[in-house]
Amino acid sequence: MSALLEVRGLRKSYGALAVTDGVDLDAVPGEIHALIGPNGAGKTTLISLIAGEVRPDGGTIRLAGTDVTHLPVHRRAQAGLARSFQITSVVPGFSARENVALALQGASGPSFRLLPMPGAERRRGEEAKALLARVGLADRAERPAAVLSHGEKRALELAMALALKPRLLLLDEPMAGTGPDEGRAMVDLIARLKADCAILLVEHDMDAVFRLADRVSVLVAGRVIASGAPEEVRADPAVRAAYLGDEA
Ligand SMILES: Nc1ncnc2c1ncn2[C@@H]1O[C@H](COP(=O)(O)OP(=O)(O)OP(=O)(O)O)[C@@H](O)[C@H]1O
Ligand SMILES: [Mg+2]
Repeated sequence: MSALLEVRGLRKSYGALAVTDGVDLDAVPGEIHALIGPNGAGKTTLISLIAGEVRPDGGTIRLAGTDVTHLPVHRRAQAGLARSFQITSVVPGFSARENVALALQGASGPSFRLLPMPGAERRRGEEAKALLARVGLADRAERPAAVLSHGEKRALELAMALALKPRLLLLDEPMAGTGPDEGRAMVDLIARLKADCAILLVEHDMDAVFRLADRVSVLVAGRVIASGAPEEVRADPAVRAAYLGDEA
């Protein structure tokens, strides 16, 4: 299957520090590709490079065959890329439904109409409710985002990301800060989302990674030291030494 995302020779340095040091990475439709590695390995930087929030020093990023290396964030979104919204982008005083409707409105692009489209708002409301149902928040639609639990807020962020109808979803530590029950719910939710879009998942929770991932890549000091099926990567001596070793 041809790759949805093709990262080749990607480089980014901060001063003398090569944070992304010649990275090759693929994502294919229908798969969850997990990116793991120790703190400071450059995982978030790589996600930000792919999303277009950080400019690379070299290398290329192709999305569904299109070179997006130098395209701004919104053009990548149009090409099918979404990064999970951060909690800070959720409007606390708005209901869950209103937040998703806002994301849907943003996804439809800037409107230069002088008059509102009849029915557009109601349609967005319906679509927002459907997205909330998709992430298990059907019964939270009318609650202010501020009163949602941490796990529910993370699910809301996912619904907002899905509003962009991505072909590839970038998730940076979706399990962070969730309790055991919420963490399990998030794993189940991500497993379900795989039916909608490919996912590049950065996650420290190894149980979650090995339950979800079709493919695992290990990033250490800005370089991919191993990439393959979860069991291959788990058994790789270099990976055990560099990363999993401290858990074994
Ligand atoms: N804007 C920046 N300016 C300077 N250095 C940066 C910047 N962003 C990241 N770094 C450095 O780049 C390295 C990689 O950071 P990054 O956040 O990508 O790691 P990470 O793998 O996501 O780590 P963690 O697992 O802790 O989230 C770190 O040494 C970090 O201090
Ligand atoms: Mg990070």
